[in-house]
Amino acid sequence: MLLTPAPATTKRGYSLPLKQHKIAVIPGDGVGPEVIAEGRRVLNRAASLCDFEIAWSELPWGSDYYRRHGTMMPADAFDVVREHEAVYFGAVGSPDVPDDVTVWGLVLALRKELDLYVNLRPVKLFPGVPTPVKATPEQIDFVFVRENTEGEYSRLGGRFRPGMPEETAVENSLFTRRGIERIARYAFELARTRNALMTSVTKSNALTHGMVLWDEVVARVARDYPDVRWERMLVDACAYRMVREPGRFGVLVGSNLFGDILTDLGAALQGSLGLAASANINPEANEPGLFEPVHGSAPDIAGKGIANPIGAIWSGALMLRHLGEQKAADAVDAAVASALAAGAHTPDLGGTATTKDVGAAVLSYLSQNLVKGT
Ligand code: NAI
Ligand code: MG
Repeated sequence: MLLTPAPATTKRGYSLPLKQHKIAVIPGDGVGPEVIAEGRRVLNRAASLCDFEIAWSELPWGSDYYRRHGTMMPADAFDVVREHEAVYFGAVGSPDVPDDVTVWGLVLALRKELDLYVNLRPVKLFPGVPTPVKATPEQIDFVFVRENTEGEYSRLGGRFRPGMPEETAVENSLFTRRGIERIARYAFELARTRNALMTSVTKSNALTHGMVLWDEVVARVARDYPDVRWERMLVDACAYRMVREPGRFGVLVGSNLFGDILTDLGAALQGSLGLAASANINPEANEPGLFEPVHGSAPDIAGKGIANPIGAIWSGALMLRHLGEQKAADAVDAAVASALAAGAHTPDLGGTATTKDVGAAVLSYLSQNLVKGT
């Protein structure tokens, strides 16, 4: 989208109004600010090499904000976010603040309010990265489409007779025909463009209401995609087969909880949680998408300068692609692959590089590739 064009001088030396993308950035807690800083460096360079600009609004929301104000975000947070085309987010979570406060107070609140029902999580093994399973980079290359607005993360239920021996907690899942249909349709469309097998992850043998509806709606949507091969797989078997035969998968679609868990497994197949990227989007609504690494705030390594920034950088590439900046997105993807192949590995991958070293390696490949390519 073209926003307030500002006159500027391009690298070729003549004056043109530069396209500008307005992005809200929420670095958050723990390793969030460390990895987001590298992501911003890479995205700024990609923008300048591809003749556009990113206007960042840094939003200091998260646990520090909570300690000062009692909430993770200000009351007008949704209005503020809606002034932007996208949100670039690190992670939240601090050992001294309950996790349901941090996560529900920020990231889950944004996903729900903006109705970002697609959580896209690519799982890809980059050449040169060690994986704990027996597989090649060609075999580990699939996309998980996680339902992001309902299912098990609906906050329906309650606690009864607190503190008593008979204390009971009820946690309800919410599945709607509309919610299942739109995520299934998205997954079938994606499988069609990738010419890939579509796997619907279920548990309808044990969860006999929501998951049975899930199966019925997916089968109904499948009829509109006769050209797409698809299958249904129970979630436990899916976890097993992701490890044993990752090469069989192309596109997977699953509920909020199943997608959450299986994509951490996917991250392990890729070599590290620090590599995994994600996009939260609503393809139909005119709302900003939210782009974030899959990992959390990693308090065990925060402040040491050794967090892997690739998940954040790759999420930035997903953001560029969503904004229509295909060339810049492809260039960042290629630079990430080159940096990893050349051994820019933080300790989670068995290497000794720092967060900044990896950011610098990606930057240097980015400049080389784009300058060569123009
Ligand atoms: P985590 O993802 O923060 O860490 C799990 C493991 O992966 C740790 O050993 C950590 O060191 C490692 N790791 C994570 N990111 C890494 C990176 N960039 N480079 C290298 N290693 C990395 O998950 P955990 O420990 O369960 O949660 C920590 C906090 O983060 C909690 O407060 C949790 O609620 C929150 N969280 C927040 C999320 C979000 O903001 N979207 C997502 C997941 C967890
Ligand atoms: Mg998770």
